[in-house]
Amino acid sequence: MRHTKVIAFANNKGGSGKSTTASNVGAALAQAGKRVLMIDGDMQMNLTLSFMDEEQALTYAKNGDNLYSVMKNGKDLSAVIIPALYENLDLVPSSTLMSGIEFDLFTKWQREFILKKALDGVKTSGEYDYIFIDAPPTLGGWVMNIICASDYVVIPVEASPWGVFGLANMVEFIEEVRAIAPQVAILGIAITKADERKKYFKETSAALREQEAFPLFNTIIHTDSAVEWAQDQSTPVVTCKRSSRSAKEYTELAKEIENYAGR
Ligand SMILES: Nc1ncnc2c1ncn2[C@@H]1O[C@H](COP(=O)(O)OP(=O)(O)O)[C@@H](O)[C@H]1O
Ligand SMILES: [Mg+2]
Repeated sequence: MRHTKVIAFANNKGGSGKSTTASNVGAALAQAGKRVLMIDGDMQMNLTLSFMDEEQALTYAKNGDNLYSVMKNGKDLSAVIIPALYENLDLVPSSTLMSGIEFDLFTKWQREFILKKALDGVKTSGEYDYIFIDAPPTLGGWVMNIICASDYVVIPVEASPWGVFGLANMVEFIEEVRAIAPQVAILGIAITKADERKKYFKETSAALREQEAFPLFNTIIHTDSAVEWAQDQSTPVVTCKRSSRSAKEYTELAKEIENYAGR
């Protein structure tokens, strides 16, 4: 019987590395023998596409075996889990129909907690060590659902001139959600897509180190061409290029996440 930890990967800034970090950290934990369920919460389906090709992803989008059916029609979550996509790793795919989720949620009773309730059976079954949820780059009712359903939030921040801009909004949003979901905490901020030759890398890391409001992971994820190569192969870089710099970094970050999430 496992004590399941639910971790959201969220940041309202797009392109900050949420989907890439979630897919690789999840795959690294699965390789280390942990049982992991990956849930794709974004209509862009990037988490789904990290583990399968477009054709396969669109099959699940069309046949209704995806998160949207759970949220919109109350389909049982366990009915849309693709088991053993990788060893120790299962996936709930997303759908492009998720673009209408804000509207669909609006009329529902206790709309902030629909995902939390949908996850409850799978969470208490003790089947997984980790449930990861990949969030879209927004701050609304749907991301509120994701945060309400989570124990922790990991915030990937891109080491770029605009990377830190808006981070305060994200943190404030989580603080507000804590009023109705007091269990959730920020596990840490992960610096992604770092390039040490660029001056804004130093600026970003200095700015994040200076603040004491939230923890910063020690592991820094650097920009690595192997990441995009792997994404083109529809597989995480920790699976297909284990010796690459980024694969090693994602594996290190996975260890930190394990330690901080208290197991
Ligand atoms: N470590 C990395 N090295 C190189 N490219 C990366 C890395 N992490 C992310 N990327 C690229 O940056 C873009 C945005 O990453 P993504 O994970 O999709 O961000 P988000 O989910 O926050 O929108 C993608 O094109 C991805 O391939
Ligand atoms: Mg994404």
